[in-house]
Amino acid sequence: MPTRHPVSTQEGLDALAVYAIGVGLMKDRSAATSDDPFGWFYQSRMHGNPWGTERQPGEPEDWSGCQHGTWFFLPWHRMYLLQFEAIIRNLTNQPDWGLPYWDYPNATDVVVPAPFLDDQSPLYDQLRTEDPFVASEPTWMDAGSFVRFGGGMAERAHHGVSPGAVEDNPHNQVHSRFAGDLSSFQSPLDPLFWIHHANIDRLWEQWLQLGRENPTDSAWLNSSWGFPDIDDPSGRRTYHVSQIQTLAVAGYDYAPAPGEPQGGPERGTVARDDAVLTLVGASRRPGSVVETASVDLLAPEALGLGGPGADEEGAEAAVVPPLFLVLENVALAGRVDAVWNILVSAGGDPVLAGTLAPFGLAELTASGGRTTLTFDISRSAADLLSVGGPAFEVTAEQVTGEPGAVGPTWERAALYTSPA
Ligand code: C2O
Repeated sequence: MPTRHPVSTQEGLDALAVYAIGVGLMKDRSAATSDDPFGWFYQSRMHGNPWGTERQPGEPEDWSGCQHGTWFFLPWHRMYLLQFEAIIRNLTNQPDWGLPYWDYPNATDVVVPAPFLDDQSPLYDQLRTEDPFVASEPTWMDAGSFVRFGGGMAERAHHGVSPGAVEDNPHNQVHSRFAGDLSSFQSPLDPLFWIHHANIDRLWEQWLQLGRENPTDSAWLNSSWGFPDIDDPSGRRTYHVSQIQTLAVAGYDYAPAPGEPQGGPERGTVARDDAVLTLVGASRRPGSVVETASVDLLAPEALGLGGPGADEEGAEAAVVPPLFLVLENVALAGRVDAVWNILVSAGGDPVLAGTLAPFGLAELTASGGRTTLTFDISRSAADLLSVGGPAFEVTAEQVTGEPGAVGPTWERAALYTSPA
């Protein structure tokens, strides 16, 4: 069973050395024959094109296939990594090789491994720039349902509209942080892409290990995609979601990352019924990253506030309900390499609710879609609700990119809760 090792260990560095050779060979294949399915260029186009548009007529049927913003985000990228890993194994003649993973603790503390910084290495990408920022903490481990964690039930979509928590943070944030190729839909051109996605893939398993569950709908389990297969005489293979939905059935595993708690994240051990959320507050007007939105509480009693007989002490003793800040129908007119932190306050100090890293958002908007971003602010709920003003204020702060970048807009900012 192949094991994927963290890049911060010696095993991970050894795997990176093989990776560099394999990437070099894949680049050579593309240089010799640009439509070689096992070449670097073709493989990147299987994810998407630089404009993030749908597959164009006449292009190979497996181009522009990446799935984002739906419950297919995790399984499609897992399949994509598996067929890619097989190419490197084959070309380097290392049948036991596993793709190393980037064991960043969170999107804020990402450090590019040294081999990627050597401009003579196949792992180098000259378009990469780094724009560090202080981002919100990941909350994917708190998600109780797959829709909150991995994305909403939907048809297959290159640009879906209901990403789960792990897609926003750390996934989108790491893409946006490095700009260049990584912030485009042809992001697999940057060799960082594959070790980044190996980590996202690992977080899926960590979430399952917390006792959470994958969808059981046949519409999810029976969906399949075809990929090039370097080891099969036909040159092709099809993966079904049911064949890769856990590491056990997919047949590989991850070595633990140094310094991470044994047995996965410490938070998130309490399962929560958060598949369906209840509206408790909403803004009256559309908003954007340059204005402060006021979100009126519509149902304070659902949050244990202001109900009959609720006094100061009663409110404090009450169980704090889960709380979500949701930006609905978010759009972005034109791609921009910038990231915004979203802050929320209830009259007291603002808390960092989430980070809006607009990976794919301009492309979604151009295709007529709007996304809904759900930030889990339950960890700050006690503080926010203890102030408990009648209105919450939502503001944004641009944290990377050219100052004053034209940023996202949304139709409504809203607060939701779920059964505890
Ligand atoms: Cu399909 Cu990280 O992207």
